[in-house]
Amino acid sequence: MELPFAESYKIKMVEPIRRSAREEREKWVKEAHYNMFQLKSEQVYIDLITDSGTGAMSDRQWAGIMLGDESYAGATSFFKMKDMITKITGFEYVVPTHQGRAAENVLFSYLIKAGDFVPGNSHFDTTKGHIESRKAFAIDCTIDEAKDTQLEIPFKGNVDPKKLEKVLEANADKVPFIIVTITNNTAGGQPVSMQNLREVRAIADKYNKRVLFDSARFAENAYFIKVREKGYADKTIKEICKEMFSYADGMTMSAKKDAIVNMGGFIAVNVKDWYENSKRLAIIYEGYATYGGMNGRDMNALAIGLDENTEFESLETRIKQVEYLASRLDEFGIPYQRPAGGHAIFIDAPKVLTHVPKEEFPAQTLTVELYLEAGIRGCEIGYILADRDPVTRENRFGGLDLLRLAISRRVYTNNHMDVIAVALKNVYDRREQITRGFKIIEEAPLMRHFTVKLERAGK
Ligand code: F0G
Repeated sequence: MELPFAESYKIKMVEPIRRSAREEREKWVKEAHYNMFQLKSEQVYIDLITDSGTGAMSDRQWAGIMLGDESYAGATSFFKMKDMITKITGFEYVVPTHQGRAAENVLFSYLIKAGDFVPGNSHFDTTKGHIESRKAFAIDCTIDEAKDTQLEIPFKGNVDPKKLEKVLEANADKVPFIIVTITNNTAGGQPVSMQNLREVRAIADKYNKRVLFDSARFAENAYFIKVREKGYADKTIKEICKEMFSYADGMTMSAKKDAIVNMGGFIAVNVKDWYENSKRLAIIYEGYATYGGMNGRDMNALAIGLDENTEFESLETRIKQVEYLASRLDEFGIPYQRPAGGHAIFIDAPKVLTHVPKEEFPAQTLTVELYLEAGIRGCEIGYILADRDPVTRENRFGGLDLLRLAISRRVYTNNHMDVIAVALKNVYDRREQITRGFKIIEEAPLMRHFTVKLERAGK
């Protein structure tokens, strides 16, 4: 008999978590104005709000923490990190930052000016925020297929080359760079194929533009290329990463995802002017060029995390867990963005809560219901997160309205996945009775989801 699949690690340290009663959760979520970001973590049983900075570090990473060099300038920890980044990506120049959005802030401060267009595939909310706050426009060129959650195609995160070329034809002089997010978080943790990266590069070359990868989950992207794209089955993850990055001029990285650290990020580039200006701005915003907002110990952990998580077994363990949760949801017929993404399952909320009008935010409603059901905290990636159109100030209902269940790396077991699946089934079974959603009573002009205050609609 073939042996079943199991995790490529054993567990050395644990953190207790606690169940709560429904009455407690009702009180807590009301106090939080039905905003998951306003809950206290101790009010949560299984936390799926993000996979960012919530992973469990390995024993090697913890050992690296003890060996951190905290020198202000020229720390050996910086060079360990830089060498590992160069080894994996091929990028020569590295500027550390305290997390991904800080890398965006630094690089975009140099690259983006008012009136610019930044085309790419479903910009993440902080990326969009850093573009729009500079009065520039994030143009989403993701393939249309990504909007059909039930369509099963291998690379649903791809850029549509025709859409991209249209932006460049019309406004080439206003495009400072093209951005490709690997994997495409907002479209459902969906990967981008090597073929598509090559196509984007060819278009960029045609218009003499540079390409930036938002690389938070690049290793998961490489895993999907290995298992799904013809010609890559026999390549190592590290070889695939090298090829992916060969089609870009630089990357911003939130190391809180695929480098499995609790805090950290960087800019890595091959372009001298991007580097010199990032370094200059990072010194103002983040810290001196060899720490940029990070501790030496954290740079050590980052280097080791990157090395470990660009190995097949590590990625296979992770992605198989996400697939396991998907298989349980399939049993119950619960619709999600298919196929399962790298870091999360994205439930198609309007398909579940068919009686909740879009103006009352179905995904947010489902998020609250799941919390009330079992103390599981997911995250709305939908109409609230989409913010208002910067020009018309109307809500943007054009995209998907999803409940994201993000799975932290090396943190929960498949027993937890079972609890999540059954809790969702219970909500799903009573979906016909859920007819009202939420209305906004207070919101920020940008990135409103973090602080938005909600009230039950119909009151
Ligand atoms: N880019 C992508 C694709 C991301 O998913 C994130 C963060 C960032 C950039 C920004 O990085 O948080 O280190 O500043 N995503 C988290 C999430 C927060 O929950 O998906 P950061």
